[in-house]
Amino acid sequence: MGGHGHGHHHHHGGDFDWEAMADKLEVDGAFVLPLVGSVVGDLTEAGHDPASVAHVVDVGCGPGVVTCALAEHFQAATVTGLDTSAELLSRLRLRAGESGLDTRVHGVVGDLEQDLPQLGPADIVWASMVVHHVDDPAATLHRLCGLLRPGGALVLIEFGGNPRVLPDHDPLVARGTWQRLEDAATASLERRLEPGMIGRDWSSDLTGAGLTDVTDRFVAFRYEAPLEDLPRRWLVRHVRRGLGMAEALPADDTAALVAFAAAVENGDRTDPFVVADRRVLMARRPD
Ligand SMILES: C[S@@+](CC[C@H](N)C(=O)[O-])C[C@H]1O[C@@H](n2cnc3c(N)ncnc32)[C@H](O)[C@@H]1O
Repeated sequence: MGGHGHGHHHHHGGDFDWEAMADKLEVDGAFVLPLVGSVVGDLTEAGHDPASVAHVVDVGCGPGVVTCALAEHFQAATVTGLDTSAELLSRLRLRAGESGLDTRVHGVVGDLEQDLPQLGPADIVWASMVVHHVDDPAATLHRLCGLLRPGGALVLIEFGGNPRVLPDHDPLVARGTWQRLEDAATASLERRLEPGMIGRDWSSDLTGAGLTDVTDRFVAFRYEAPLEDLPRRWLVRHVRRGLGMAEALPADDTAALVAFAAAVENGDRTDPFVVADRRVLMARRPD
């Protein structure tokens, strides 16, 4: 963990080297931006007028693609990105500077598993794809609740279902190859996380942390074929990352998927699309 040991070493069979993943995290961040827009719309409907949001905290912000997007959505807000990695926070600062957001976007080193720095009350705490990495999610959510002002909202973004990228009649889908890739990748991820993090009853954790008005749903977003550069790069990497995790795939599945990734990358295949989703929970700190 970039020299910042904080107790993940007992995890099942591996650690996550976030700094080595910085480029990938930037692609992932850009990939989910359509989701960010739709969640901000939901917050607006729930009474959080974007124009009157003064402080947003993005915990586990990584290189800050989503953090900066939040600053664009909440034009009057200060946005604090919090992460254990100083190196990723320097990417956030660089990005904020390039976008002219550096007066409103700040990076702070902090660990969700420890006492959090004093950040000032937040109208919105955004926690995307990070709480499943901590040992004690209930305690972490309790701490995150403490960052909110009364009436403020917590947004928790967690694993959705498997992405769909080809029609059902495509041989990769019809023969089950795609499903076996996704199943193997999910199984590998499950071994690397604490038990039960995928499909956890996050609603109960949020209620237990003292939050109310909990909503829990899947929010989908899609990229049409032919894919533009960003979702195409995401897809190629998604397949290759899955192959890297999925030791037990039959050899002909592996061969078909290696060929598929190459064909998408070099433009021989332009038929793939991407339909992806994330699980989005929202909750409010009581007044
Ligand atoms: C999968 S990335 C998610 C990045 C971004 N939020 C997103 O959704 O694209 C997880 C991030 O959480 C950070 N992280 C992991 N454990 C953390 C902890 N205990 N406290 C703070 N940040 C942590 C990592 O450094 C990494 O940047």
